[in-house]
Amino acid sequence: MRLAGKRALITGAARGIGRAFAEAYLREGAEVVIGDINIAGARATAVELGCEAVALDVTDQASIEAAMAFMRAGGGIDILINNAAIFTAAPVDEITRADYDRVFAINVSGTLFTLQAAAREMIAQGRGGKIINMASQAGRRGESLVAVYCASKAAVISLTQSAGLNLISHGINVNAIAPGVVDGEHWDGVDAFFAKYEMKAPGQKKREVGAAVPFGRMGTAQDLTGMAIFLASTEADYIVAQTYNVDGGNWMS
Ligand SMILES: NC(=O)c1ccc[n+]([C@@H]2O[C@H](COP(=O)([O-])OP(=O)(O)OC[C@H]3O[C@@H](n4cnc5c(N)ncnc54)[C@H](O)[C@@H]3O)[C@@H](O)[C@H]2O)c1
Repeated sequence: MRLAGKRALITGAARGIGRAFAEAYLREGAEVVIGDINIAGARATAVELGCEAVALDVTDQASIEAAMAFMRAGGGIDILINNAAIFTAAPVDEITRADYDRVFAINVSGTLFTLQAAAREMIAQGRGGKIINMASQAGRRGESLVAVYCASKAAVISLTQSAGLNLISHGINVNAIAPGVVDGEHWDGVDAFFAKYEMKAPGQKKREVGAAVPFGRMGTAQDLTGMAIFLASTEADYIVAQTYNVDGGNWMS
């Protein structure tokens, strides 16, 4: 019960990694609110897990503020996981401005302005807080077909550093998790991009990336929950502005 008495908002938690975080936080005694643009999915997940859901589009400032008002009405916010994101892939000569704008609106602006809104709440509450951003191994280096998503996750690592340094004076720890390759619906989509651009059979890219992980397989959402619990707990009070790789050994930094 390392998160007993804490109230957490997890964005993009209708499914995938965010959903696993919600489950893990509930087991640790936190009150959890799932914020997702897919409100039907968020509600269904919330009913299954026994928590709350709120409609949240992280690209829309009014929606972010409404979600924070929801948190305030329920007793405040102690933990934010900025988990919502989308993936895209294309060779450089096929990148579209619309794709770039959408990825940056969700992965970068969405992360920053949800973080800002949560930080404002936490400052007003005066009891500190924990903010965890979801980065990626993709933010550690470029990838031939993944320029836009990689750049967005590099921005998340940089924002984590600056916001972490700025907000620690309020007792707010900002850190990030950089997963490697995590199986699930997100990676089904990634696999489809590689099937198209590298002419691979469906499922082939997944098998290849899994075999290349030093641990010996792709990650699962559950592989990430330990770090998410730790970074939200008081045991992580002295950890500021860091991004932790949780990737089976894919990347060392
Ligand atoms: N799966 C991986 O291999 C992997 C690897 C590295 C990093 N990550 C990161 O981990 C996080 C979770 O990934 P996942 O695999 O669970 O992804 P996912 O695609 O399964 O889930 C993303 C969720 O975000 C929601 N969402 C999308 N746009 C939104 C918006 N504008 N506002 C609010 N919610 C929105 C979706 O409805 C969905 O529920 C993401 O930040 C992702 O970039 C994933």
